[in-house]
Amino acid sequence: MRGWAWLLGGVILTLAAFGATGLVVIETGAFDTRASTPHNIVTAWATHTTMIHSVRQGAEDVRPPAAFTPAQTVAGMHLYEQRCLVCHGGPGVARATWVQGMNPPPPFLLDASRQWTRGQLFWVVKNGVKMTGMPAWGITMSDDDIWDLVAFLEAMPQMKPADFQKAAAVRSPSGPGPR
Ligand code: HEC
Repeated sequence: MRGWAWLLGGVILTLAAFGATGLVVIETGAFDTRASTPHNIVTAWATHTTMIHSVRQGAEDVRPPAAFTPAQTVAGMHLYEQRCLVCHGGPGVARATWVQGMNPPPPFLLDASRQWTRGQLFWVVKNGVKMTGMPAWGITMSDDDIWDLVAFLEAMPQMKPADFQKAAAVRSPSGPGPR
């Protein structure tokens, strides 16, 4: 047999072995889907890295506005408080306690605008993240609302906890912060 035929045979056998292993894992329950146990290090790395590259690639065509108005930041803050605070926390406000049961846990977003560009923040908020609990907000919010949220995410690191808590208290009758 020629070299390439051996190579092809080897590739097919390897793929078949992977496929069979995958099927065994799926069918026997060997993969642990409990949220109460941490991911193993390989799964944690693979899923997070996949998400980063997916966001970077998906956001390539997003055209962000050159600047945000103060009104957008304020509107974004109120949206954030209603829909995001519970999971992500805010300046001086902790996440809801039940979020500790999520796997992966939602990160604090104080440095999100340093890690992601405007377009990437828009894209990840609009489309959410599969298998993590991060919802796709584009299903229920307009693009304008999502840009307001991005404006707030950019402004949040400079916001004093007292100012945020005051604004949050104005919105929720039972005081600032989720429980
Ligand atoms: C039910 C909980 C939940 C809610 C509510 C939620 N998120 Fe998330 N969010 C998550 C989780 C979990 C992740 C982590 C995804 C991952 O690990 O890839 C995440 C990730 C993100 C990220 C990427 C952060 C990073 O650095 O990886 C951004 C930005 C974000 N959320 C913004 C928002 C905004 C804005 C809202 C409100 C409109 C919101 N989220 C509401 C659970 C939530």
